[in-house]
Amino acid sequence: MPHSDLRRRLLIAIGAAALPLAAHALDTEEPEDEMVWVHSTECVKGLFLFECPEAEALEQELRPGGMCPRTVGPGPGMLVDGECCYEVSDALCGALGCGCAHGRPMLREVRPLLAGIARTHWIDSTLPAPVLVGLSAPERLRLARFWASVGSHEHSSIAAFHRAALELLAHGAPERLLAATQRASLDEARHARHAFTLASHFAGATIGPAALPLGAAIELAADLPALAARVVTEGCIEETMSLLAAERMLAECRDPAVHRVLVALVRDERRHVELAWKTVRWAIQAGGQVVADAVAIAFAEARAPIPNDPEPLSPRLAAWGAVSDERLCAAAARGLAAVIRPVGERLVA
Ligand SMILES: [Fe+2]
Ligand SMILES: [Fe+2]
Repeated sequence: MPHSDLRRRLLIAIGAAALPLAAHALDTEEPEDEMVWVHSTECVKGLFLFECPEAEALEQELRPGGMCPRTVGPGPGMLVDGECCYEVSDALCGALGCGCAHGRPMLREVRPLLAGIARTHWIDSTLPAPVLVGLSAPERLRLARFWASVGSHEHSSIAAFHRAALELLAHGAPERLLAATQRASLDEARHARHAFTLASHFAGATIGPAALPLGAAIELAADLPALAARVVTEGCIEETMSLLAAERMLAECRDPAVHRVLVALVRDERRHVELAWKTVRWAIQAGGQVVADAVAIAFAEARAPIPNDPEPLSPRLAAWGAVSDERLCAAAARGLAAVIRPVGERLVA
């Protein structure tokens, strides 16, 4: 969706569509991973004529220094057409990249609260499988990690909307906002299920989220200004930027199964973004200047996300929705300047 269209929709959501608009231009918390492993064969080219060396002799080639752990099977490799091939196992460790978050993060302090990856069953068997033909084992592993990371963030969003619903209840919000917030948490559960389904196809193993480390109690906003500030940060800023990132993923996606997932995800996220802006508008109307001041401060603290991916993505994997953190963050940063800041200023004007 062009920035001008999104800006118009958000201005309608906050009731300011008729007024002229001024011109404008997460390292993530790493919970203990459950270490789900994906097994494959990695071959090393070299001047191997008769036999292969022990894996330790090819340490540099077989352990390229990625973020997630890898183990290499014992013993010498197998010689195949001049290449030495070894059994390797790669961990599907937690969230990768995500300087630009996916979905509405459940923030604790300033970091999203994320579950690890586990052998849980978050699979939608009605979804078609992505096309895997032509993908190498390392590419499948990278796609599995990318989509598991998306799934972890969507899984976190379920909790974010549950907390938001409790806060709306605690501060007397209208039923329409409460009901829409509760429906959004179900959307996020579906997004997580779809992302983990894709990740499982790429990994060749059933994977899902581990338990979310919420702790004994969830801290709720003490008053309306705190509620509004949280919705600005999690919804108006983070989720709007993640919508723009998802639109980038959709624009470059070519795989039919992934495309279907992204179309539904973008449709839902647009609705969630509008809900966030409507919620803040209600809070300002209900609480007056003190809420508007808290909202203005929260918008002033908005920062463009910084790419944070130690395992860069090949541009070719964008066909399966996996766009590099750098480009997702760039899309989010453009939206921050062109949509979020100007509409935010209108909201508190
Ligand atoms: Fe989502
Ligand atoms: Fe969302």
